[in-house]
Amino acid sequence: MKIVTTPFEMQQCARDIHARGETIACVPTMGYLHEGHLSLVDRAHREADRVVLTLFVNPIQFGPNEDYAIYPRDAARDTALCEQRGVDVLFMPSVADMYAPDASVRVDESSLSKHLCGRVRPGHFNGVCTVVTKLFNATMADVAIFGQKDAQQVAVIRRMVRDLNVPIRIVASPIVREADGLAMSSRNTRLSPEERKNALGLSRGLRKAVAAYKAGERSADAIRAIMKEEMEASGLRVDYASAVDGDSLEDVAELKAGDLLAVAAYSGATRLIDNAVL
Ligand code: PAJ
Repeated sequence: MKIVTTPFEMQQCARDIHARGETIACVPTMGYLHEGHLSLVDRAHREADRVVLTLFVNPIQFGPNEDYAIYPRDAARDTALCEQRGVDVLFMPSVADMYAPDASVRVDESSLSKHLCGRVRPGHFNGVCTVVTKLFNATMADVAIFGQKDAQQVAVIRRMVRDLNVPIRIVASPIVREADGLAMSSRNTRLSPEERKNALGLSRGLRKAVAAYKAGERSADAIRAIMKEEMEASGLRVDYASAVDGDSLEDVAELKAGDLLAVAAYSGATRLIDNAVL
């Protein structure tokens, strides 16, 4: 496995791969890798000849009161996991490699970003779109793999790629869960045993909501109430329990196939998200 740290070096490496007639799949991550991230690597191997995993904790997508400083990091462990999983190139730039001190250009998505997580995380998707554009430009990838775990992120990036004619194909890969249903997340490691138990309220709420939908419930308000009640009963502080159109992310009144059920809640101090597509 080749380890690359600067965008310039990454582009040279990508040009060499393309010159051999091979395609590149990019898997953007912020590291502290778990099976969810590694499932994207497996998918990447099926989508292209070479896999580039990017590991960069992007400061500009964290709000001033968010967890950038304490975001879990372990580059040595991540490097070993990438090696084991057959990653061809690990791109791990420093903040200084990625952002000039006087950087003044950003990529802004102004519609989908306003919903769901965007309500409480102003500027978050601006930071994501900006860094993802930079990672696409550095890796020169033909295809990029994102997790459905961050459903809004996938929607925003698809919109960005469409609206800016970015020459890359976006693939969304299913949510990987622990045996008891909790969606895997780097942030799960911060949960105390009690908070870990309560965190199951997110997936349980979604499961109950999906079951009600399958049993014929079509009122979005009724479904929202089911998710909210289950999360509150589990000791979580609910941020949102939403039922939205899968493309526009606008609230719906009546549920239909393809709609997105999305939840966010705090277990202790840790904010967790999960979702299900009807
Ligand atoms: P991060 O949270 O590290 O996630 C990297 C990728 O892994 C994302 O596409 C995310 O959706 C996916 N992922 C995380 N947990 C998953 C799970 N349980 N199942 C399936 N996929 C999962 O998302 C980011 O980083 C950043 O915003 C990034 C896109 C790298 C830009 O900085």
